[in-house]
Amino acid sequence: MIAIPEPLIVANWKMNGLIHEVVDFTKKVDGKLKTFKHKAEVVFCPPFQAIAKASESVKHNLTIGAQDCFAAKRGAFTGDVNPAMLADVGCQYVIVGHSERREHHKETNKDVHDKVLAAHDAGLKTIVCIGESATQRRWGMTQAIIRRQLLESIPKSVYADDIVVAYEPIWAIGTGKTAKNEDIEKVHEAIRNLLLRRFGEAGQGVKILYGGSVNKKNAKKILALGNVDGVLVGGSSLKADDFWEICQSCP
Ligand code: PGA
Repeated sequence: MIAIPEPLIVANWKMNGLIHEVVDFTKKVDGKLKTFKHKAEVVFCPPFQAIAKASESVKHNLTIGAQDCFAAKRGAFTGDVNPAMLADVGCQYVIVGHSERREHHKETNKDVHDKVLAAHDAGLKTIVCIGESATQRRWGMTQAIIRRQLLESIPKSVYADDIVVAYEPIWAIGTGKTAKNEDIEKVHEAIRNLLLRRFGEAGQGVKILYGGSVNKKNAKKILALGNVDGVLVGGSSLKADDFWEICQSCP
């Protein structure tokens, strides 16, 4: 029997936050986790420059992650950061394939695939982001896009335990528009079926997060949906109190 995964709540600060702000947030959320009643894992992904300080500030159960990595092990890649470097500053997770990376840096499924492999080699778990654009949705292509992104982004050699999948419809990110609950359930069910086909029974244990305008008001309903094992939160994670309310919305 594969146990139902405990919820995973992830704060993605994107390109926001100076070190003092990151440390302040880390201490607040980590301090609250000391007496957290819910069985859930909470991950904070600050911007690169503040990761080390965030890791040093953790005393309890807050987990630190990064927002991206480069796939090469070392070499002449000016400005890039590899997964071993992230592990070195205390990261346990790395987000890969976020739609903002795909859009602004032209990252492909193959790039995401290579990043997952590299992260796996360095002992990091990856949060693999997938999701359709507004146009793709209008054309009824959501399921096909999700399927392709998932199949092409997950390397053959990784295990179910190594990855988390985040479904983030692009049109819902930072827009205040959340996908309808029934649509979230439908897509998450399709993702679950693909994971079961890919990993066998172990696919049941892969966490599937929803992301896209999650806030303290809608988090509880979203977290209660079938096959939703957590949320990836951008804008609403920037204030510790709001993010903490989202953490407390876990079933
Ligand atoms: P949002 O961002 O919560 O601001 O919509 C989510 C994300 O991009 O991960």
